[in-house]
Amino acid sequence: MKKIKTKGSQVIIGEDVFIALKKTLKAYASHKKFLLVDENSFTHCVSEFIVQTDLTNDIEIIEIESGEENKTLEICQHIWQTFLDFNADRKTLLINLGGGVITDLGGFIASTYKRGIDFINVPTTLLAQIDASVGGKVGIDFNHYKNVIGVFNEPQLVVIYPYFLKTLNKRQMLSGYAEALKHGLIADKLYWKMLQAGLLSDANNWEKLIETSIEIKNNIVKNDFEEKGERKKLNFGHTIGHAIESHSLKHDQLPLLHGEAIAVGMICEAYLSHIKLNLSSKELKEISDTFLIYFNPYPINESFFNHYLELMKNDKKNENDTYNFTLLKKIGEAEFNHEVSVENIVESLKYYISITK
Ligand SMILES: NC(=O)c1ccc[n+]([C@@H]2O[C@H](COP(=O)([O-])OP(=O)(O)OC[C@H]3O[C@@H](n4cnc5c(N)ncnc54)[C@H](O)[C@@H]3O)[C@@H](O)[C@H]2O)c1
Repeated sequence: MKKIKTKGSQVIIGEDVFIALKKTLKAYASHKKFLLVDENSFTHCVSEFIVQTDLTNDIEIIEIESGEENKTLEICQHIWQTFLDFNADRKTLLINLGGGVITDLGGFIASTYKRGIDFINVPTTLLAQIDASVGGKVGIDFNHYKNVIGVFNEPQLVVIYPYFLKTLNKRQMLSGYAEALKHGLIADKLYWKMLQAGLLSDANNWEKLIETSIEIKNNIVKNDFEEKGERKKLNFGHTIGHAIESHSLKHDQLPLLHGEAIAVGMICEAYLSHIKLNLSSKELKEISDTFLIYFNPYPINESFFNHYLELMKNDKKNENDTYNFTLLKKIGEAEFNHEVSVENIVESLKYYISITK
């Protein structure tokens, strides 16, 4: 089992993580425990989880519908009410078993119920294992704005059992892969090259991929937990990506997944890096080509631009009414706090349209 120490907690990764989890759970033996799942983590992961932890008669399962559209205040209210119905007190433990929606939402619910109860993340998607469940950002969407309500708060433990990924479909795996590619782009050129070549895609290499991504994220977050500076590097691709994701959630019948939207955002923001920080044409092409190999081109058109810009204005990453970006100097090296004009953002969206026609 691999252990990674975070600012105030710990991530454990491997096939034998449940031994450590059972030890941690001893401290909660006499307290109420809830398990938050959606229908897919219920179907594919709950029985394994219950068997491995021996929690059969000792935990209440709360199941919600899957999907980003459920990362809302209404669902929080439903779960807070369930806690009250069961007389959950401040010593209650919430275990979040699911993808990034479950760990973001469950983390927020736990952090705010009775001014905060303990929670443990057991992520079951690639995206949640390498990114969402680690780093202490928890929150919900509001009025179609992504993650605008939330707090920084770490779980007691993050338990990563790569075996859970076996039931994840290819589209969901790729959505997580986008965040891994981002980790390479902002901090580790060799990792980017390995991912680009598909060298870590095989199930035998999942642990290595998960560990590398978490180490990269953790090394950045450790120094800047509340995102005053360096942590902004992790936002590469997310300023435009979140706007595209929010727009898609509102307008598309089959909305983009988080990683798919971020992939579009990373192409646009690589273009901004090219015009603002002299990222070379060769690396811009390498980044664009790689994302277009892994992800189907998403059709955007100029009539969406105003809505994208409006969504970006309200993105929590922007300060003082300016558009603030993390950009790449080169592959493996990111810089944060670069102001970008509306004209440049529009140009980057047009670049995306031009290469996906
Ligand atoms: N907090 C952070 O730092 C952070 C970072 C990145 C992303 N996020 C958030 O994470 C969310 C996206 O996470 P996600 O991609 O995991 O989405 P998700 O939670 O919606 O999971 C994706 C799908 O996979 C299903 N699923 C989960 N586990 C499964 C399994 N083992 N087998 C089969 N199906 C399974 C889910 O039911 C869902 O349908 C977004 O809301 C994003 O904003 C947060």
